[in-house]
Amino acid sequence: MTNDKRMSLAVFTSGGDAQGMNAAVRAVVRTAVNRNANIYAIYEGYEGMVQGGEYIRPMTWSSVGGILQQGGTQIGTARSPEFRTRDGRRRAAKNLLELGIDRLVVIGGDGSLTGANIFRQEWPELVQELLEQGEIDENTAVSHPQLMLVGLVGSIDNDMFGTDMTIGADSALHRIIEAVDAIASTAASHQRSFVIEVMGRNCGYLALMSGVATGANWVFLPENPPPTDNWREEMCERLRTGRKIGRRQNIVIVAEGARDRHGEPITGEDIRQILSEELGEDTRVTILGHVQRGGSPSAFDRNLGTMLGYAATHKLLDTTPEEEPQLVGIKQNKITYSDLMTCVRQTQQVADEIAAHNYGEAMRLRGRSFVEMNDILDTLVRAHRGQRPLGQRKLRLGIMHAGGPAPGMNTAVRVATRLCLDHGHNLYAINNGVKGLMRNNVTKLHWMSVSSWVMLAGAELGTARYVPQTTAEYDQIAATLQSRKLDGLLIIGGGDGYELAYQMHQRRDQHPAFQLPIVCLPASINNNLPGSEYSIGADTALNTIVSYVDKIKQSAVATQRCFIVE
Ligand code: F6P
Repeated sequence: MTNDKRMSLAVFTSGGDAQGMNAAVRAVVRTAVNRNANIYAIYEGYEGMVQGGEYIRPMTWSSVGGILQQGGTQIGTARSPEFRTRDGRRRAAKNLLELGIDRLVVIGGDGSLTGANIFRQEWPELVQELLEQGEIDENTAVSHPQLMLVGLVGSIDNDMFGTDMTIGADSALHRIIEAVDAIASTAASHQRSFVIEVMGRNCGYLALMSGVATGANWVFLPENPPPTDNWREEMCERLRTGRKIGRRQNIVIVAEGARDRHGEPITGEDIRQILSEELGEDTRVTILGHVQRGGSPSAFDRNLGTMLGYAATHKLLDTTPEEEPQLVGIKQNKITYSDLMTCVRQTQQVADEIAAHNYGEAMRLRGRSFVEMNDILDTLVRAHRGQRPLGQRKLRLGIMHAGGPAPGMNTAVRVATRLCLDHGHNLYAINNGVKGLMRNNVTKLHWMSVSSWVMLAGAELGTARYVPQTTAEYDQIAATLQSRKLDGLLIIGGGDGYELAYQMHQRRDQHPAFQLPIVCLPASINNNLPGSEYSIGADTALNTIVSYVDKIKQSAVATQRCFIVE
């Protein structure tokens, strides 16, 4: 029994591991140390809590050094049948009380968070029982009448209410995208079809987002099964059309829990058979499995884990026994606190709706951005243009870059092209940025002009760091717009693009050609553009930096040298 009057808290990871859990543990430990609290790590999740002893270890600032860049969870996770029993939980309570711990940071999925809440509800009875049986003394029982909890969601599935992103989902998406890009090149070489199964039993986040990010040709999600029983024919027709217009690879992504509208599972093998038989295609299946949970966390997950771990520790140290347990998450890039059990219940409701075949409701519960992303995917998987709505004029739109190249610019051009064509309009590429705009260097974009652009770095249309200064230069720009009869302009780029748009707008009285709608899409690795929290390219640049710094650190640690990275 400890006489230490400082608060004592413990952190543990539970359920499936996820990249970024280490960042969260590190932040919890260091924030607690900074607040002069006693901080323990419980190794092997609930199992370690039940076993006690060396499984519950005091942590110091340096205990969590060098773990930020590691995958998985350094403090382990395990399934614990014993913790599911009341006796197991009683032993766990005793182990915590012996160290004066009555505050927990739980990092896990909905199952782990539910387990923690049951434990919290039982805690007063468990304390009483331990006292009656002489396993703890009166003072301990009186000092720790309640268990206080804060939950962080560590799961690659991104399936939890109360946070826009779960710790690990972004890294898993990176793993999937790397794998699909690699598969796409071999698929294209042989003109083969590949079916790739990704994780997600009740949540299609990874399938949906990787489908968009890799330019997949068909995607199956648990929440949104194909709308009709004709899905086999429709999928084959779509893929056949793609081949006819020159696509060399077919990529189908299927979530682990995909099903049809009747709830019958759709597996990678089912799809392989259909494609082989109906299309006569050489089709292969790749199940990505636990590769998705492996490897070093992305910059986003390291930062998410760090931010949430920091916020959770402050929350836990400031909470009172009366307050309901909170889930610490992010919504629209801000840290948020939500009632933990409400979030768990809402999460479980999605699984219930899927099981009851209420797919519309399951999609609604997933939220607006999930539904929007699904609509974008629906457009992008078409192999050719759709129909212009009746009565709408066919528009001639221009697209160009400005400023330095940023990763993701090509993806944006691809989406813009397909969306324009899908709505029956024409899109013209202005090559080499503003220089092409002055020199009338313009080409028409077709559906297949942007095929495979999702995975291309740089800027295929070309770009330039230049903002025209003179009247003569603006005369040239006006001449291009007039000769091409453009009805609107999309500028994807950095501050130079904003400046160009502004200058054209200012000069619209002298140049009627500038009286057209201009839209700027922020693209800059610096992430410093107004009007958006993220600019295209910033996340990729950050990941590049982080992966190089990881390597430099290895050398720095080995040689005890100091490196300055610019
Ligand atoms: O919840 C995370 C997750 O990776 C799911 O996507 C997947 O269905 C499941 O865990 C796999 O669990 P296990 O690692 O126990 O096989």
